[in-house]
Amino acid sequence: MTQISFPAMPAAGPFCLNDETAYHRWREKKLSGYPQRASELRVTIADPFQLSSTEQDALQRRIEKTNFVIYQLANPGADDKRAVKALGKQFGLRDTDSNLCADEDSITSLKVIPGGRQQHYIPYSNLRLSWHTDGYYNALDRQIRAMVLHCVQDAAEGGENLLLDHEICYIHLRDTNPAYILALMQPDAMVIPPNVENGVEIRGALSGPVFTVDPDTGSLHMRYTARTRSIEWHADPTTLAAKDCIQDFLGSDSPYIFRHRLAPGQGVLTNNVLHARTAFENEEGGKQRLLYRARYYNRIAHT
Ligand SMILES: [Fe+2]
Repeated sequence: MTQISFPAMPAAGPFCLNDETAYHRWREKKLSGYPQRASELRVTIADPFQLSSTEQDALQRRIEKTNFVIYQLANPGADDKRAVKALGKQFGLRDTDSNLCADEDSITSLKVIPGGRQQHYIPYSNLRLSWHTDGYYNALDRQIRAMVLHCVQDAAEGGENLLLDHEICYIHLRDTNPAYILALMQPDAMVIPPNVENGVEIRGALSGPVFTVDPDTGSLHMRYTARTRSIEWHADPTTLAAKDCIQDFLGSDSPYIFRHRLAPGQGVLTNNVLHARTAFENEEGGKQRLLYRARYYNRIAHT
């Protein structure tokens, strides 16, 4: 089994359990003036290949606050795939992750695919997609720190996204019980089973923490899935209570959970916050939901 191992708790800073001062200072700043509505997180982009400094600032400010921003291309069109890449590049996103189902340009087209390899994966169906961060099954050196999710075509009905800043989830857990944070930073907090296709193991089991702190940037990363089938949580009572605490929070009507149905030409640029998707219906011979997804190993850069 591959184990994701990071240096455990940082020695100081907001994500160190012994540094209450730094935590409370960071927490206060984080929550002060936090957006209340998804509309506050929207920025219109005239030209995704050449952001104006005003647009860049507006996008950056929102990402710094909430770890995601909803952009709207003023003129969406045939070049959207290149636009997604160009947008990422202007935020220092270069290390794309090519997953099993990505197109040749390492951007994944998310749409309903009834046959082939993709049929086993919920993102390629019209089913509800439960809360997760992307790449929770990736190895240590391939954790997904940022991504762009771009809507080319919305569904005839449904397909709404739910988004929750993982730093808010951290605050909720730590305020409820600091021991939850310790439990979720254990190297074997959450074990993902191997990926087996037609009897062949294409990825081994993967064990790792939920929360890690990047030693280089000091930023918080969350590895999470709400799926229950074959996920093994560390069996001590505190980890299980922490898992339930996350689940309750994600199922609550917290004002920190944003709901937004992406329209064509809209997208989310994010430091891989927690997200989910409601079920949707395509229209036969008509609207077929299509999203482009680019995933990156690095975080959105401060510009
Ligand atoms: Fe996702």
